Amino acid sequence: MHTLLWTALAASSLAQQAAALDWATAYDKAEAALALLNQTEKAGIVTGVTWEGGPCVGNTYAPTSIPYPSLCLQDSPLGPRFVYPVTAFPAGINAGATWDKQLLRARGAAIGAESKGLGIHVSLGPVAGPLGKNPGGGRNWEGFSNDPFLSGVAMSETIQGIQGEGVQAVAKHYIGNEQEHNRETMSSNIDDRTLHELYLWPFVDAVKADVASVMCSYNKVNETWTCENDELLNQIMKTELGFPGYIMSDWNAQHSTVASANSGLDMTMPGSDFSEPRGNIFWGDYLIEAINNGSVPQTRLDDMALRVLAAWYLLGQDEGYPAVQFNSWESSDHGGHAAVDVTGDHSKLARTLARDSIVLLKNDGVLPLASPASLAIIGSDAIVNPAGPNNCSDRGCDVGTLAMGWGSGTDQFPYLIGPLDAIQEQASADGTRVVTSTTDETGPAASAAAGADIAIVFINSDSGEAFITVEGNEGDRNTLDPWHNGNGLVQAVAGANKKTIVVVHSVGPIILETILAQPNVVAIVWAGLPGQESGNALVDVLYGSVSPSGKLPYTIAKKEADYGTGWVMGEIDDYPEGLFIDYRHFDHEGIQPRYEFGYGLSYTTFDYSYLHVDVSVSPGPATGLTVPGGPEDLFDSIGEVSVSISNTGNVTGQEVAQLYIGFPADAPSTPPKQLRGFEKIQLTPGQEEEVTFPLTRRDVSYWDVGAQAWVVPQGDFTVYVGASSRDIRDYDTFTV
Ligand code: NOJ
Repeated sequence: MHTLLWTALAASSLAQQAAALDWATAYDKAEAALALLNQTEKAGIVTGVTWEGGPCVGNTYAPTSIPYPSLCLQDSPLGPRFVYPVTAFPAGINAGATWDKQLLRARGAAIGAESKGLGIHVSLGPVAGPLGKNPGGGRNWEGFSNDPFLSGVAMSETIQGIQGEGVQAVAKHYIGNEQEHNRETMSSNIDDRTLHELYLWPFVDAVKADVASVMCSYNKVNETWTCENDELLNQIMKTELGFPGYIMSDWNAQHSTVASANSGLDMTMPGSDFSEPRGNIFWGDYLIEAINNGSVPQTRLDDMALRVLAAWYLLGQDEGYPAVQFNSWESSDHGGHAAVDVTGDHSKLARTLARDSIVLLKNDGVLPLASPASLAIIGSDAIVNPAGPNNCSDRGCDVGTLAMGWGSGTDQFPYLIGPLDAIQEQASADGTRVVTSTTDETGPAASAAAGADIAIVFINSDSGEAFITVEGNEGDRNTLDPWHNGNGLVQAVAGANKKTIVVVHSVGPIILETILAQPNVVAIVWAGLPGQESGNALVDVLYGSVSPSGKLPYTIAKKEADYGTGWVMGEIDDYPEGLFIDYRHFDHEGIQPRYEFGYGLSYTTFDYSYLHVDVSVSPGPATGLTVPGGPEDLFDSIGEVSVSISNTGNVTGQEVAQLYIGFPADAPSTPPKQLRGFEKIQLTPGQEEEVTFPLTRRDVSYWDVGAQAWVVPQGDFTVYVGASSRDIRDYDTFTV
């Protein structure tokens, strides 16, 4: 592991020890505080003060009877929004592509530390919904992966990182917000088993990690708004999962006073509509009125306030918490200038994350680069937007190199190292001549490419949140092709240069067939959304100071139709694919993907040997007391799987070993294999080490709709271990 990481991790684990999370004590304190509040104060701490009514994107009313503040809630899936300076970390999807639990934890801790320094009580992230079932879904990049297991581990690590710093994390958006089109009117109709095994799964990890809050989403589920959906909030989240924290609405996702309160919503945000005049549309005084006329019980308001107070005590925010250090509305473009600099040395972590998230898709031997005599650098994506990296508010344009998507999941770049900047620095050290063509015009691109030994061409594909439309894309992507004629640009370059390297900055999969049909495309480097250290991280990998170690957190198909899913135009998505999204679908249908889930090349090679399965579990339903996340037994250890991995190549590298499980026929219509473990290890040439995958009862259970329980089926399970979902190196079975 990298030295800088040790420092970050040591700091974050110390912070965690200091703030051991204890709901029971938090509830005791909350009850004592609640007893001191009058009705207006209780309603106030569960109601936003209106949009733009306080310094943060969400603010609550401060009571006077107890020393409890106006809570500051701020977006932060990749760093705090509407304030500067902050760090612009790689997006969630890149953090997922690292498959590195320690890096995920460190990223969460750094976001938490920046948030706390700024006086933010509640960090509005991380994201597990969208999960990403639609490859063109606009906000998929805010989350970690469309595989629920990988997403769940990333949620847990990120939440523990954020909350270890004393900041409340929010698992969002709960649930079925899988597209941006019609997100505020449409219904996601999801069957019970699919809901549990795919979309709820990472939220279970969030609750298990003691997340303080969950945000209900804009859409309806099974024809009822999520924020007034008794089944989703009261029954599943609070009863089945035993969630002790509070459920807040997405901004204006609340549609009623009474139904939302009685269905389990605990906090309304931002407390008003976005339009003028602003007021408390549903709660505040209206909630008190509903209690007075008997339509909402007093116990419900008490429970809401108790949950909100308990989360505040849980994180120790009652002691010495910093005051808010900025005003989001100071400038309509940039947010507020912070009174403190909270960025510390986080740029190093941002660079490590960015480089370890790069996925090498193809390499015919051209990489790593070894001081080439000349290089052509091509494409508008090679340079930073000449008007500045923050020129478009909420990053709502695709000008210059792409390093994050657009919408509320963004923050301000403190700086952005563009690919060309970093390559030029390396080239001048190496004495390499650099020719450039930094538009997307094919003529100049071909001329530049013709004049160099190697050409590197940059293409991208962007998406974001529905409130901004970019180049005709209303949040969701219209196609999975590269933007700005990327295919044509690559064709022009490859037509002129025999060693063409393609670098892709993208929010999600793009279709690569046109590019792969060019025989002169000798390498493809998938850099995703790398954040502020984009160019530096890319140079680290291109020149081999580290070996690439990212693996795809989704499948890249040969054609869009192969996914079998996509966002819909209408008001209803019936989720007809059920459990079969991404690799589950490709495996089930026998469709050959271009690059499968979990795939990624290295500059070295790894061998797998000595697979050992040591599992013992009884069949039947999980039982036991409900702990945060579900029935206690669900999280019991059932043994482990181990395998030896050796580095058989010539350079040091990191491998992500993956474990998939195939269920017996007793679990009806289950995907052929499902990810249930992964470990990333670094090995020097010739080094061999054992990797262990711990398994829990949950990993071998399916959701039995009839029994309404997680059930371990009987029969033969298959354990697959390998370097991707299709590069299986060994397998074994165990019988239940
Ligand atoms: C709406 C977005 O869906 C949500 O993610 C965000 O936290 C709020 N706006 C506040 O900006």
